[in-house]
Amino acid sequence: MLRMVLPTGRIIKEAEIFLTRAGYAPAENLAATRKLLVPSKCGRLEYLLVKPVDAPLYVEQGVAECGISGKDVLMELAPDLLEPLDLGFAKCRMAVAGRPAIVRSLDNTLSPVRVASKFPRVARLHFEKRGIPSVVFKLSGSVEIGAVLGLAHYIVDIVETGTTLRENGLVVHEEIAACSARLVVNRAAFYTQNEVVNNLMADLRKALP
Ligand code: PRP
Repeated sequence: MLRMVLPTGRIIKEAEIFLTRAGYAPAENLAATRKLLVPSKCGRLEYLLVKPVDAPLYVEQGVAECGISGKDVLMELAPDLLEPLDLGFAKCRMAVAGRPAIVRSLDNTLSPVRVASKFPRVARLHFEKRGIPSVVFKLSGSVEIGAVLGLAHYIVDIVETGTTLRENGLVVHEEIAACSARLVVNRAAFYTQNEVVNNLMADLRKALP
């Protein structure tokens, strides 16, 4: 039996549908249960349910052989693990957003641009690559208000439907990356449990959208 870590939160419903399609239906409704360990009905997987930002650590440390994680979280944490499959669901974009009127242009490198984000590493690297000095404030959520109230010139965040930006009067200024759910695998387990991992990957491939 392999253990697969799954992120609770907005990705879990789509993950459950995908895993069921692949033949690994969980024994309980993952979005509703308060259990942290749930087996699959087929008995070949055990699901471990944790906060999205913690998911890669369990795989990196070998507590779970594999897992599903959003590319946004993987970009931020840069964990040491394998990322063999783009699962094609939970699609969103990592973007630089802000008020529609430019309050601090993105081609001026004289003073630091102020940025608020749940993804401070992604934000820092993006502005570094663009050659723009930045000061990045790490927030834990509701990032949009940082740009609305002037804490920051811009936010770096994920945009899925665009509703949150629209309802707060913000727009996308730059796209950083396309994100989606990824299969992640522990480096050692990929080799020591190669056959089981390969079988799992073959089943998941067949269920790709
Ligand atoms: C995420 C993200 C945006 C929103 C984007 O937040 O940080 O705020 O979703 O989605 P949309 O484009 O479909 O509106 P989340 O719902 O995870 O909540 P949080 O702000 O509390 O982190």
